Amino acid sequence: MDILSQKVLAYGNKPLTGQMSVPGDKSISHRAVMFGSLAKGETNITNFLAGEDCLSTIAAFQAMGVQIDRNEHTVSIKSNGISGLTEPSQPIDLGNSGTTARLLMGILAGLPFHFTLFGDASLSKRPMDRIANPLREMGATIDGRDNGRLLPMSVRGGKLSPIDFKPPVKSAQVKSGVLLAGLLTDGVTTVEEVIKTRDHTENMLKAFGANIEVEGTKVTIEGNQPLTGCDIEVPGDISSAAFFLVAAAISEASNITIENVGLNPTRTGIIDVLELMGVTITVEEKRTVGGEPIGDITVKASNVKGAEIEGDIIPRIIDEIPIIALLATQATGQTVIKDAEELRFKETDRIASVVQTLTTLGATITGTKDGMIIEGNTNLHGGVTQSFGDHRIGMMIAVASLLTDEEIELHDPECIAVSHPTFFEDLDSLLDN
Ligand code: S3P
Repeated sequence: MDILSQKVLAYGNKPLTGQMSVPGDKSISHRAVMFGSLAKGETNITNFLAGEDCLSTIAAFQAMGVQIDRNEHTVSIKSNGISGLTEPSQPIDLGNSGTTARLLMGILAGLPFHFTLFGDASLSKRPMDRIANPLREMGATIDGRDNGRLLPMSVRGGKLSPIDFKPPVKSAQVKSGVLLAGLLTDGVTTVEEVIKTRDHTENMLKAFGANIEVEGTKVTIEGNQPLTGCDIEVPGDISSAAFFLVAAAISEASNITIENVGLNPTRTGIIDVLELMGVTITVEEKRTVGGEPIGDITVKASNVKGAEIEGDIIPRIIDEIPIIALLATQATGQTVIKDAEELRFKETDRIASVVQTLTTLGATITGTKDGMIIEGNTNLHGGVTQSFGDHRIGMMIAVASLLTDEEIELHDPECIAVSHPTFFEDLDSLLDN
């Protein structure tokens, strides 16, 4: 059994002030490495998220013969394009990364090789049939544990046929995996969603020179288009910023600005939720790179009120719901979150892990089939908690510690490095002013 470390959190009721930036966006960092590896020529990535998940993506393409060099947050890729990729001699370790697993599977399905994929304990429990099934329909041979549903899995890729796919789940990873398989397939592939999920794949494929058409929630891609290497600047990750935005909103006398955050409309649901719940927040959009808007967000401590959060906004806040649940414990009135059954398939079952953790800290919160109900105006207290190996649960617990003078013991804080390796230093920098 692994011996996990622990951290005692005692931030107790201090204001957050000043300016900060957050590491590069996780979704965009993954895609930059993947598309740079598929593109002919040189790709240079700046503000890359050097978190463990994105390092898994780099290692996967290095194993297929792509030259990838990283210096902190800068990555340079030299590739001969799709035809230059080679069959890896070893199984590919996906670590904790669902995005690596689902997008990579789409790419591997279109390559004339055999691959073995495995992940950590958490990833090995997450459903892969959502991506394997459409890829099988396109002609790939994919097998794995639990009747081909779970990692470890094997992929025998090759010549595929295009499909018109309507994903039964709201998932940008599934949409992207099928579009990438479509890119490697003769003919025209379409993916039509019920609700639009994050569209970084569509934006970035255009930056790499692909012809990809977006009409509402329908995306059309023509196969066998060459990608050409380019420079990608990764915006700050709004999903990492969310923890600090909420921290400032609920800590008396706080006032912070987070600079150079990605403001892609498919990701800014957290801003809408903060506004809906009465938080004083201003957004200054400054520029757009590779189809991705970037700007500064300022938040002040505010009186927060409960809200009903459901429907089309859910995919736009899917990674922010743990921290929104914490925010709701400080609101006047009740908050109800619905239509978020996808939370059950994240790094942990995030309905169960949020409810258990916030209950331990004194919240009144009930899990439902597709969300949670949170009572407001609760005084949180200290306690013994664990991240369950889920970075976003770990960061939620750290922010909860701002609300109590009692100590919170956090077991397994290391997983926070998945998306925000400098999280604790960044939090300290706002508390020191
Ligand atoms: C991601 C999509 C989302 C999100 C994940 C990253 C992506 O997952 O939760 O953190 O980069 O496409 P789903 O698309 O499975 O909902």
